[in-house]
Amino acid sequence: MGKAKSCFVCQECGYESSKWSGKCPNCDSWNSMVEEFKSPEGFSGNNLSKIKVNNIPQSIMSIKSITYERMNTGINELNRVLGGGIVKGSLTLISGDPGIGKSTLLLQTANNISKQYGKVLYISGEESEEQIKIRGDRLETLSKELFILSETNIEIIEKHIVDTEPIFVIIDSIQTLYNPTITSAPGSVSQVRESSNQLMRIGKSKDIPFFIVAHVTKQGALAGPKVLEHMVDTVLSFEGERTEEFRILRTIKNRFGTTSEIGVFEMRENGLQEISNPSAVFLEDTEFNKEGSIVVGVMEGTRPILVEVQALVSETKAVMPRRTAVGVDTSRLNLILAVLEKKLKIPFYNCDVYVNVVGGLNIEGTLGDLGIALALLSSVKSCETKLEKLLVVGEVGLTGEVRPVNFCDRIVNEGSKMGFKNFIIPLRNKNKINSKQVNVIGVSSLKEVINKVF
Ligand code: TYD
Ligand code: MG
Repeated sequence: MGKAKSCFVCQECGYESSKWSGKCPNCDSWNSMVEEFKSPEGFSGNNLSKIKVNNIPQSIMSIKSITYERMNTGINELNRVLGGGIVKGSLTLISGDPGIGKSTLLLQTANNISKQYGKVLYISGEESEEQIKIRGDRLETLSKELFILSETNIEIIEKHIVDTEPIFVIIDSIQTLYNPTITSAPGSVSQVRESSNQLMRIGKSKDIPFFIVAHVTKQGALAGPKVLEHMVDTVLSFEGERTEEFRILRTIKNRFGTTSEIGVFEMRENGLQEISNPSAVFLEDTEFNKEGSIVVGVMEGTRPILVEVQALVSETKAVMPRRTAVGVDTSRLNLILAVLEKKLKIPFYNCDVYVNVVGGLNIEGTLGDLGIALALLSSVKSCETKLEKLLVVGEVGLTGEVRPVNFCDRIVNEGSKMGFKNFIIPLRNKNKINSKQVNVIGVSSLKEVINKVF
């Protein structure tokens, strides 16, 4: 056996170099080059190429269409995010801040699947079997087909998977695994890469789906090489404030479904409970007709969701006034502020502006624009809206026009189900809405809205 070769690997992007440098020549991150040792046999994971040597190129017309065989996780919100359940042989990565509830969600999933389908192996490198049992005791009834293993050596893990023959495997977490033939520390780029390669090979060859927990860096990105994200089929991110009970499961990548669906959960004493009607929960504590508060309707995947947007505008003498947005894209907020200043002649240059979406949801897209604008106006004018139980939907354009949006009818429907009485929507969307019980006001510009609302 030859001598182990050392090289410096960037922990951010995986770039390799024989010399150390303070800054990675590839991705320009500082202090990310770490010395790692390669075994002489190499660890490029190209065992994969051996799996399907018999494949030959085929015409796309002759390939049979297949529908993926999926397993029901017993958790509707998780099924929805995955695109209808876990696809056999797929690799799913789940990331999120420490303490957010990844291990809890996966233990619940493992338990549900083992009740329905058979043996599930939950492998943890972070907690002992006893610790996992304590967590399990807080959840609903446990299944005898759920097997727990506390192990970090990937070779031993592989052996146990082969012996146990589970139908589903959970790895908590990829950063704790190590391959003894590689001398670098667990969590380093080469260990993570090698372990994931090995897991993928096992999963794909035995058609076992894997759920893998991955840590995030301080900045919120997945720790470890980018290749990890490219390799797996699905990447989920579990988000939320640790101090609040709501947790949102989002898809970042999905080879077997859309990436626009979200799942909403609440952390309770007995584990994570799914929230099938998020609007009701987000609006639970909302007092209507408050200064600076507007309820907006947005679409999350196929679901309309109603959330409260709060704005606070306060005068300041600072040269650079603050612009703080939680749950709203700051550049979108700046755009709306610029339109309000220019088209309605309302000054914000001498004001600090804070915007917050209640409940921890991130408003993506433009459906919330008009609502955000009205919340800002309500705060700057120090007066609440004169319309009772008001819901607002609409995009704001740079000329101050209110532009039509998709799915407006579904949001209005959801709103009337939730007891809203007045709706402000783009004029061009109004003709498609034929609800007699509620008051729907169509508007085409910001100027027009002001008179109707305040
Ligand atoms: P955990 O799943 O360990 O988080 P992660 O794996 O993402 O680090 O969840 C940690 C938190 O959840 C912990 O602070 C305790 C809390 N929790 C509950 O509130 N209820 C429960 O039933 C369980 C199991 C945990
Ligand atoms: Mg954990």
